[in-house]
Amino acid sequence: MTLANNAKNQNSRILSVGAYRPETVVPNSEIAPLIDSTDEWIQQRTGIQSRHRAKDDQSLVDMSVEAAQIAIKRANIAVDQIDSIIFATISYPYQAPSAATELAARLGANKAAAFDISAACAGFTYGVGMAADFIRGGSAKYVLVVGGEKLSDFTDPTDRATAFIFADGVGAVIIGPSESVGIGPTIWGSDVTNRDAITLEPSFLEFKNGKSVEDVGWPNIAQEGQRVFRWAVYEMAPVGRLAIEAAGITAADLAAFIPHQANERIIDSLVKSMGIPDSVEVARDIRTTGNTSSASIPLAMDQLLIDHPDLHGKNALLIGFGAGLVYAAQVVELPPKPN
Ligand SMILES: CC(C)(COP(=O)(O)OP(=O)(O)OC[C@H]1O[C@@H](n2cnc3c(N)ncnc32)[C@H](O)[C@@H]1OP(=O)(O)O)[C@@H](O)C(=O)NCCC(=O)NCCS
Repeated sequence: MTLANNAKNQNSRILSVGAYRPETVVPNSEIAPLIDSTDEWIQQRTGIQSRHRAKDDQSLVDMSVEAAQIAIKRANIAVDQIDSIIFATISYPYQAPSAATELAARLGANKAAAFDISAACAGFTYGVGMAADFIRGGSAKYVLVVGGEKLSDFTDPTDRATAFIFADGVGAVIIGPSESVGIGPTIWGSDVTNRDAITLEPSFLEFKNGKSVEDVGWPNIAQEGQRVFRWAVYEMAPVGRLAIEAAGITAADLAAFIPHQANERIIDSLVKSMGIPDSVEVARDIRTTGNTSSASIPLAMDQLLIDHPDLHGKNALLIGFGAGLVYAAQVVELPPKPN
């Protein structure tokens, strides 16, 4: 007997965005002395002036409740209408239950399918692509996609290659049905030959096997900065171009470009090599937010819409890339102005 298929070929769009930035602002001047650096060097090489840091007793889920509640309110839906929660993170300190289920419990979304994805700085754009496919395939009507990190728990404040880059924050969107296409095709993939370029090691098993933090160190992010920089600059421009082409538009039809906020020089280079015209607003949230991995794109989206309210409902190219190395890009219609 043939089984039934629930595919609806339903279009979707981002209905709303919400952001949470921890209160504590950490300027470069606080970080520089620990890594023999200067505010000037950090600003010149990355564009970062300051970043936000969560309190010690503030968990990733605490922060994500704040961002998600804003997104839900702005989308004008009830919590029990959320069918699925996709939580992109690499800094949740539990393997199970997931951050998504903890968030669901705190929101009162007791029946939503809920799970975490580990795709580092591409996690949010992976999640957006998956949410659009869930809705198209009939597996969900409303999806909460969260990108959230408390990277301060997994960053060595004395590591010259990472201490000034990584930061804390959470961004969330509600994705739901739409009459027209509000999320273009996702161009995603990986370059696993470079999977040792960014790591979060050692494994917790080291501690089970009798080693101490003194022996093997705490699991912290490590990266080969130049290698990642070169890869992002050369490999991500074609991915962005493919996403624009797949959406059936040209760069001139974009109103905004919201790339992962890894380094402002990477952003500048992508703008140039992709031929993004001056008319396109480019997100530069990195200056006051640092690199928040999976949270960086929704945080930058929220800030861009605050700074430029005319961008609500206009087309933006999103491109996420990071540890794996993995990437995903899509053109989306930015959420409408909340009521
Ligand atoms: C990390 C990063 C900012 C370093 O910048 P860079 O220009 O590549 O720096 P380099 O490692 O080539 O070092 C250049 C010089 O600065 C020095 N330097 C390195 N880190 C420094 C620091 N934190 N402060 C001051 N000086 C530093 C080096 O010693 C070197 O000095 P030298 O020329 O006298 O030998 C840059 O590589 C980067 O942003 N990479 C991408 C990282 C990223 O996006 N990761 C996340 C991906 S999701």
